[in-house]
Amino acid sequence: MLHYEFIVAQNPEEAGKLAADIFQEILLAKPRCVLGLATGSTPLPLYRELIAREKAGQLSFAQARSVNLDEYKGLGPDHPQSYRRFMQENLFDHISIDPVNTYVPDGLTRNSQAMCAEYEKKIETLGGVDIQLLGIGHDGHIGFNEPCDFFPAATHEVELEEITRQANQRFFDSIAEVPTAAYTMGIGTVMSARQILLMATGADKADILSRALLGPVTPQVPASILQFHPHVTVIADQAAASLIRR
Ligand code: F6R
Repeated sequence: MLHYEFIVAQNPEEAGKLAADIFQEILLAKPRCVLGLATGSTPLPLYRELIAREKAGQLSFAQARSVNLDEYKGLGPDHPQSYRRFMQENLFDHISIDPVNTYVPDGLTRNSQAMCAEYEKKIETLGGVDIQLLGIGHDGHIGFNEPCDFFPAATHEVELEEITRQANQRFFDSIAEVPTAAYTMGIGTVMSARQILLMATGADKADILSRALLGPVTPQVPASILQFHPHVTVIADQAAASLIRR
């Protein structure tokens, strides 16, 4: 039995528009909001829609701040596959957000622990995340929180699972180039957001989405923890929602 909002869209484009409605509402109600952002294929229709809506004068990012979920260890802002570069190309370069107000973990840090601690502190100083956008990995990961024996609390360094490296290989020339580690907000960081928007599109996400939303809450399926968050909205397209019967 789902106790959160579950919205089914016809296709990924419609999912993007419905997600943009939620972002728009927050940006209008609180122009200085803190947006928790994600990379990957799933949010792309949302980002395209947000860019179009700002150009059309329907919303503004001028005062907004953003914090991203994660970054590959060892990749700098200029690397074509870094998440900082992804965000620049797919969102930040096309909206009015002030670049100094966009935060992504520093993949090139020489002191991982200090960088992770500072990232947590930054989120706290910003006043916490108003809405955290999430995609879901085929193994149930959120951010780069992979299945494990416990729920990691804070921003930390992780070794990437083979399934995740393989899924992300499509962006690199070869599997050898896919980083083996990353920095990610912890499950505790994600859960402290005031609102969570989980997006899932495509038939390949149907099984893991139903396990995350309807199965037992376990760190072996990190996204299952969302069942315990008080304000979650799930937007799935028909293909991803196909195994959810309510
Ligand atoms: C991205 C992230 C990941 C992705 C997930 C799904 O910043 O943290 O958890 O959301 O791997 O990726 P896509 O959307 O490419 O299927």
